[in-house]
Amino acid sequence: MSPASPSSSSRGRPAGASGRTRHASVAARGLLAAAERDLQQIILDIHDGPVQDIFGALSQIQVLRHRPELKAGDAAPVLARVAASLERALGEIRSFIGAFRPPEFERRPLGAILEQLVVQHESLTGATVDFTLATPLPDQVPLSLKISLYRILQEALANATRHAGVTHFEVSAKANSRHIVVRVRDRGKGFDVAKVLKKEVDVGVAGGHFGLRGMRDRVAIMNGKLSISSGRAGTIVTIQLPLS
Ligand SMILES: Nc1ncnc2c1ncn2[C@@H]1O[C@H](COP(=O)(O)OP(=O)(O)O)[C@@H](O)[C@H]1O
Ligand SMILES: [Mg+2]
Repeated sequence: MSPASPSSSSRGRPAGASGRTRHASVAARGLLAAAERDLQQIILDIHDGPVQDIFGALSQIQVLRHRPELKAGDAAPVLARVAASLERALGEIRSFIGAFRPPEFERRPLGAILEQLVVQHESLTGATVDFTLATPLPDQVPLSLKISLYRILQEALANATRHAGVTHFEVSAKANSRHIVVRVRDRGKGFDVAKVLKKEVDVGVAGGHFGLRGMRDRVAIMNGKLSISSGRAGTIVTIQLPLS
């Protein structure tokens, strides 16, 4: 069953090389603005998280340095606090790194990466997702394709869970010799795609919604196609990326 009365559809431009290049550079600017905003947030998070913990640990070490008379037994609780602060800082820094470069992307096959993302989404949100690999996916794909597809699917999953009003949806992936196609389908309440995308032209504005724009920009940069059809019977997001 396909969603009733699709409200709109947005496709990457099929145009010739120059149209594609222009579209990709607009997309790159959009992503750059979004990346700049994310960067500011990350800087704040690093400041409020690990920087505070490392500062705390250093202060405790200063205390010890200025009190050489302290016996090992008295110094032990201070050292325990130093260790706890540093461990927390290390954990936070590791999770920042993980957010940028999900682990082992270079050597993990694409199918396993997508499947792991779906499983992680299920365990974080409580949603259930039917994941189908309709054909085997190629083993050797560029790292940029893995990262793009991971980010795009991450956003599509988040949107289905946050906005569709359903806790069950479907993801399928397939490939031929030239393309990989990933489809996310929910049977939720749907939305007016054209209206939402039109509202989101101001990527740099704080507090805006950037998910769909980010998906569109990533797909454009990879010379792929994004199709979103949505209506009363739900939403289908289809991402097609060239394999080379
Ligand atoms: N699968 C979906 N089902 C229903 N509405 C959706 C779906 N995906 C996106 N939307 C609508 O499109 C809007 C914009 O999405 P997005 O750009 O990802 O921003 P955000 O998720 O931060 O709100 C959402 O606020 C929601 O209204
Ligand atoms: Mg979103």
